[in-house]
Amino acid sequence: MADSVRALARDLKRLLTTAADDMLPAVSAYGPETESLPAAVKVVAAVATGPKAESPQTAAVLEVTFPRAQSISLQEPTMTTADKTAALKALADTISHCTRCPLGATRLNAVPGEGNVNAAVMFVGEGPGFDEDRQGRPFVGRAGQLLTKMILAMGLTREEVFIANIAKCHPMTDPLHPEKHGNDRAPNAQEIACCRKYIEQQIAIVCPQYVIALGGVAAKSLISDASSLGALRGKFHPLHLDSVTLKKPVQILATYHPAALLRNPNWKKDAWADLQLVMDKLGLKGARN
Ligand code: URA
Repeated sequence: MADSVRALARDLKRLLTTAADDMLPAVSAYGPETESLPAAVKVVAAVATGPKAESPQTAAVLEVTFPRAQSISLQEPTMTTADKTAALKALADTISHCTRCPLGATRLNAVPGEGNVNAAVMFVGEGPGFDEDRQGRPFVGRAGQLLTKMILAMGLTREEVFIANIAKCHPMTDPLHPEKHGNDRAPNAQEIACCRKYIEQQIAIVCPQYVIALGGVAAKSLISDASSLGALRGKFHPLHLDSVTLKKPVQILATYHPAALLRNPNWKKDAWADLQLVMDKLGLKGARN
């Protein structure tokens, strides 16, 4: 396992160091001596390779670091609405041309995310599916329709929140046939690592009060904890990002992914209890009639 992950790291390093992109991250492959790595990076490896990879003996993980200059403007204490809009647009343009990982070659459209640049609440899913790949917009398929209902039930609208994903391009089980239905999969560690700075920068720009991580991939990646979603959900965690410093503290709450709720409607009660924690903090009374 460690050898194959190291091989993956080498391939990724080659890919990244040959790409003509001046925002290129510096990538280093780590072997057993990973003690000083940021927790998030270790979690990425654990998510992709299973519990064994958490052992220092077997883990080989990728560290993606980003040029300093990119994070500086995001740390300005006062970003105006116009600054935020421009920064998010520039980021979306970069994402739409991104080929850092193989998903860049198979996507129909990148899906950077959308919403209110001053949102108090930001929802983060795992990655675009079939419908999102076609439309270039997050959460527009069946799971998205349920997410829209969840947002409305909280007393908000889609226009009032910001919606994004950990991975910005459609992870497919069969990339040769993007037209196929049922071709979705979770992003792997390499894809999550390549995309990580995008969601971090989006969070830093919007700087919401609360991030709601939808499902285990988003929760583990953003909370930097490989515990199960069951252990992470239902409480607030302080959000710490690797590549940016947040202008003010942001709390993250994990809950079930809407696609999981479609499969397991009996989990909706717990998901609603999770959302009510954020509603209570923001003084939201629920659906507006
Ligand atoms: N699932 C996600 O995680 N994100 C989307 O945008 C759509 C479905």
